[in-house]
Amino acid sequence: MYRTHNNGELNINHLNQNVKLSGWVQKIRDKGFIVWVDLRDRYGITQLVFDTERTPKAILDKASELSRECVIQIEGQVIERESKNKDISTGEIEILVQDLVVLNTSKLPPFTIEDQTDGGEELRMKYRYLDIRRNPVKQKLIFRSQVSMAVRNYLSEQDFVEVETPYLIKSTPEGARDFVVPSRMNEGQFYALPQSPQTFKQLLMVGGLEKYFQIVKCFRDEDLRADRQPEFTQIDCEMSFVTQEDVLNTFEGLTKHLIEKTHGIKVEEFPRMTFEDAMKTYGNDKPDIRFGMKFGELNEVAQHKDFKIFNEAELVVGIAIPGGASYSRKEIDKLIDWVKRPQVGAKGMVYVKLNEDGSYKSSVDKFYDDKDLKAWAEKTNAQPGDLIAVLSGKANETRAQLSALRMEMGNRLGLRKPNEFAPLWVVDFPLLEWDEDTQRFHAMHHPFTSPKAEDAELLETSPGEVRANAYDLVLNGNEIGGGSIRIHDKQMQSKMLNLLGFSEDEARKQFGFLMDAFEYGAPPHGGIAFGLDRLVAILGGQESIRDFIAFPKNNMGRDVMIDAPATLGDDQLKELGLELNIQKNE
Ligand code: AMO
Repeated sequence: MYRTHNNGELNINHLNQNVKLSGWVQKIRDKGFIVWVDLRDRYGITQLVFDTERTPKAILDKASELSRECVIQIEGQVIERESKNKDISTGEIEILVQDLVVLNTSKLPPFTIEDQTDGGEELRMKYRYLDIRRNPVKQKLIFRSQVSMAVRNYLSEQDFVEVETPYLIKSTPEGARDFVVPSRMNEGQFYALPQSPQTFKQLLMVGGLEKYFQIVKCFRDEDLRADRQPEFTQIDCEMSFVTQEDVLNTFEGLTKHLIEKTHGIKVEEFPRMTFEDAMKTYGNDKPDIRFGMKFGELNEVAQHKDFKIFNEAELVVGIAIPGGASYSRKEIDKLIDWVKRPQVGAKGMVYVKLNEDGSYKSSVDKFYDDKDLKAWAEKTNAQPGDLIAVLSGKANETRAQLSALRMEMGNRLGLRKPNEFAPLWVVDFPLLEWDEDTQRFHAMHHPFTSPKAEDAELLETSPGEVRANAYDLVLNGNEIGGGSIRIHDKQMQSKMLNLLGFSEDEARKQFGFLMDAFEYGAPPHGGIAFGLDRLVAILGGQESIRDFIAFPKNNMGRDVMIDAPATLGDDQLKELGLELNIQKNE
């Protein structure tokens, strides 16, 4: 037996008991006549003590030779500590060691394995297994497991069936590039790894399962950001005989359950907002509604004077920054530089200070009087003491720029509190979006999403205006899930693929299997997929998903620990029939 207890378990109630413990040596304090060792395992830290008077000499000598991160097993007695540590559960006791076995030695770790470490990101990724020994990382992985388990339990209780779908498939268009896998047995042919199990879950509905879910890996070859990984996990779900309302209610239930389970917070009914309103009010289809700073559109009250920049703009729009009237000239200039950074891209920023005494001071005093500025303040709901920041230009670009400023100010002013949860359904997304580069429509969600019945006529005349039965779940400014009610009719599916620029032949080749299935009584169906990594990170109070993934990739899509991706040997290339292609390309 390696242990009778774990290292987080023992306390004053265990005094005088004889125990066995195992774990890693975290810290050694050797005073010659007395040696203290902090012993760590997954559950915590227990202090061990060896001394000349009470420990056999051979064991004390062995203790003096221990080094950090070696693995040991000890046997000893629980005694009361002289100087207690109130910060840890085992802080009142220590173990007077009688026997010590070294189970394994360890090289000196390249960074300290403690909550605060001296290791940089790259180094910690290379030695991820050591990083996982640290509490902050370990706790996140445990938290993820708890959330996954809660999801499984909740959905199983609601009668959902967990089904695994294949990873070696044919490309599904979800908007990103595919990762591909060459087939040895079918030379020159490739599988694609799924960007999502979308078509399979629809086929499971044709198969009559009615309620499906899967916690599943998805693969997308896209540029990486803090909230994106090339392989990530979805909670993927699909239901038959449901309306949009049914799907929203079911998954609102799941999300409420998870927030309550992880934080003990009960969230009331989730608000809903149309895509159009979200864009107008927050400049963003995933607004963080934990704080205000709603957009005020100012065209009406700013385009009647001689200020050319505003008069020529498609949109003039502002937000009121709380307390901003006290910013110095220098601080405001810095803010203007911030919106002019290439990442944001504004050409400039007009501002109005709404002083506490009710007076106004603006950067465009030459053009606008107090009456004008009062109207701006009303539109942006500015209060005395606020600073109104105004941007102008093309509508979409300007909204995106002001949204970036709003989020930045939300962060700077501490308005994005990690322990507050503000979920939001964004509904009525456009079905299609026009792509300037290819000069054609793309599906905004995916090609299987149904148009709203009342907009179906517009498909022929103005497809860009058709709204979809599509919805996103937004949590604290992050898109954590998205789904739609699907097309289940073969004719409508063909029409949609046609609108998206697929010839009949191409549609047949790529989606023939789905269209065929639709000829055998496909039920009305719809669903959603949550990004598990994102959901877990946000529930864990963070926005970067990396630490919630055991072995994540870096910004270049590399796993620096195993050093992947890597080249293949000639033999392997030959076997896969890839050698010829490479020679051809050289
Ligand atoms: P969608 O493409 O919106 O929908 O994806 C669903 C959710 O998955 C998460 N997500 C990601 N998380 C981490 N890294 C990524 N690269 C990444 N890409 C997406 C997001 C997103 O909301 N088949 C449809 C779902 C459906 O219609 O039912 C789909 O995949 O949180």
